Amino acid sequence: MKAVTWQGKRKVSVDSVPDPVLQEDNDAIIEVTSTAICGSDLHLYEVLGPFMDEGDIIGHEPMGRVVEAGPASNLSVGDRVVVPFAIACGSCWMCDRSLYSQCETTQVRDQDSGARLFGYSRLYGSVPGAQAQYLRVPHANFGPVKIGEELPDHRYLFLSDVIPTAWQAVQYAGVGRGDTLAIIGLGPIGQMAARIGRHLGARVFGIDPVPERRAMAARHGVEVFDTTGDTNDHIRELTQGRGPDGVVDAVGMEAHGSPIAKAAHTAVGMLPDAAGRALMEHAGVDRLAALYSSIDLVRRGGTVSLSGVYGGQASPLPMLTLFDKQIQLRMGQANVKAWMDDVLPLVEDPDDPLGTEDLVTHRLPIDQAPEAYEMFQKKTDGCIKVVLDPHA
Ligand SMILES: NC(=O)c1ccc[n+]([C@@H]2O[C@H](COP(=O)([O-])OP(=O)(O)OC[C@H]3O[C@@H](n4cnc5c(N)ncnc54)[C@H](O)[C@@H]3O)[C@@H](O)[C@H]2O)c1
Ligand SMILES: [Zn+2]
Ligand SMILES: [Zn+2]
Repeated sequence: MKAVTWQGKRKVSVDSVPDPVLQEDNDAIIEVTSTAICGSDLHLYEVLGPFMDEGDIIGHEPMGRVVEAGPASNLSVGDRVVVPFAIACGSCWMCDRSLYSQCETTQVRDQDSGARLFGYSRLYGSVPGAQAQYLRVPHANFGPVKIGEELPDHRYLFLSDVIPTAWQAVQYAGVGRGDTLAIIGLGPIGQMAARIGRHLGARVFGIDPVPERRAMAARHGVEVFDTTGDTNDHIRELTQGRGPDGVVDAVGMEAHGSPIAKAAHTAVGMLPDAAGRALMEHAGVDRLAALYSSIDLVRRGGTVSLSGVYGGQASPLPMLTLFDKQIQLRMGQANVKAWMDDVLPLVEDPDDPLGTEDLVTHRLPIDQAPEAYEMFQKKTDGCIKVVLDPHA
């Protein structure tokens, strides 16, 4: 089959690899009909190289049709399913508490990491990823969500990651009707978090340097700002001088605006594996511009919710401000299935309240993955979300 593989910093290719096969009774194999590229994949592309091996299949946002079902998979050949990006058993201590991204059956203990993720480096179990024509789904008795036949793929696809992640970000930010919410970063996660904030009745401010990303958010009732000048002061003025009740950092560890850390990032990406890993894990090379900005912006007693992914260990945090402003901080990989009953009805709603019809800017054949990654990273051609078609 064809699959997108990691080949080095800023280098992916489309290769012919062996088809996946059933290995456990609760596995299923799906024929992937749509598979998206995520901001998280850009971290593999740019800074997480020391944790990757050449030839790793990447991708974690798939949907498709079951073509082989293990006897304990609870699925049948022909079922149409969307597959959460984190692999969970559904029945361990963590899963019983809906902390699926911390599943104790699939935790990657040798790396001290949480649940295994599709296509996401040695840190998360080196599981073959989903930007491929076929995907082996472990623990398929729990993960995959069976969906109907009527609606097109792009209505359901973002249940694999973007929509539950954004939902969790807003829940963790603790805002609801009548509250104020700022979203830093208007990539796909920020777009959906902003729309969910609006859907739940909050006033939403969105911040991003890229004009077409601001324009998309503005189409969905978000008050938008760029990153130059006194954006935070401006938003404070609009919130009685206090700042928003909740702030979602939807940028993560590659924020623009920290030149020193940028040099460190480049260094890690270029170092031989072992040295790069050590620097990444222990020296800490996060670019914290978006996190610092969230801490500055949120009102006293408010909540900062990180959906952006962070790595590294030693990044200094403004503890004085965090403590003095009495800020609550929540974060983590999304517990996708914990939110499914909330979000599935929204994507199936004929009114499309989350605007799933207005997110994908490019649908491309899988053969064009190298160009797609470059375009998504550089944000050229108005690119906001790319879906790859594995069988085009
Ligand atoms: N927690 C989870 O489960 C989970 C799931 C999916 C994605 N993520 C993470 O969420 C983050 C966003 O993902 P995405 O797919 O939307 O990616 P993306 O790269 O498209 O979005 C990031 C956005 O942040 C903007 N940005 C960069 N620096 C900024 C700054 N200083 N201030 C304001 N905006 C800035 C960029 O212009 C871009 O629009 C990534 O870190 C990704 O790894 C986390
Ligand atoms: Zn993703
Ligand atoms: Zn579990």
